[in-house]
Amino acid sequence: MQLQILAVGDVVAEGGLRHLEKNLRPLKKLKDIAFTVVNGENAAGVGLTREQAERIYDAGADVVTLGNHTFGKMQIAEALDDLPWLLRPANFTGRAPGRGCSIYDVNGLRVRVLNLIGRCDLSWGADNPFAAADKCLKEGQADITLVDFHAEATSEKLAMGYYLDGRVSALWGTHTHVPTADERVYPKGTGYLTDLGMTGPVESVLGVEPRQSVEHFLGGLPGRYRSPEGPCKLQGAVFTVDSATGLCTAVERLDIR
Ligand SMILES: [Fe+2]
Ligand SMILES: [Fe+2]
Repeated sequence: MQLQILAVGDVVAEGGLRHLEKNLRPLKKLKDIAFTVVNGENAAGVGLTREQAERIYDAGADVVTLGNHTFGKMQIAEALDDLPWLLRPANFTGRAPGRGCSIYDVNGLRVRVLNLIGRCDLSWGADNPFAAADKCLKEGQADITLVDFHAEATSEKLAMGYYLDGRVSALWGTHTHVPTADERVYPKGTGYLTDLGMTGPVESVLGVEPRQSVEHFLGGLPGRYRSPEGPCKLQGAVFTVDSATGLCTAVERLDIR
C-alpha cells in the first residue's frame, strides 16, 4: 500500500498558526494524507507554549517536532514529558526533558518519528546526530521511519541523507525557513528534501518583520522579534511511502498560499 506522509515546515507566530489551522485539514483530505509531522519550534516566534503545541496537534498534526528554539518558552519542559506526540531533538544531552524518537501506531502500522538537530553553525553542544540516529533506529521495530533533521548546513543534511539512505523512509530538513528545490528519492529508497521552508508570513525575513530585520543588519538596537500581519504560506512536502518496503517512491513539494 502506498501511504502519503505530510511534513510541514516551521510554523511561525500567530499568523502561521492560524494559516495552519485553516489549511491543514483540507490539504490532508486533498492529498489523502495518512500521517502528518509539523515542526512547531517558532509558534511563539522563539519556542512554543503548551497551548500552541496543542493547537498544532488539534489542527491535524500527528507529531510536532522542534529544534534549536525548543526551550524558547521554558514552560514547554513539562509538556515535553507529558505529550507523547511532542518531540524535541533526540541528540540534546541526556539532561533535557522529553524524548526525540518515538513509535506511533497508525491503523496497525508502526511509524517511527525521529527529530535530530545539526551541529554545524547551530547546536555545537548537541551529541553527534549521526550516532544518535543509529541509536534511535535500534530502539524497537517500525514499518516506516521519518526523520526531521533540524539543521543549518546543507552539507550536514545531505550527508545525513546518504548515511540513512535505505534505512529510513523519508528525511527532511527544517530550520532555515527557506525551501530547497532538491526533493528526490535517494539511491537506496529514502525520500529527501534539504529544507521544507516555513509556515508563516509571506512578506517577512524568515518570519520576522522586514523593517526590524533590516534595522538589525544596519546595526540598530536589538529587540524581541516581531512577526508581521498579512498573507501566509504553508510550505512542506508529501512523501509517498510503500508500506511493504518502508521506502519512498515519490516526493512532492508544497506551497499553500
Ligand atoms: Fe530552528
Ligand atoms: Fe525555525
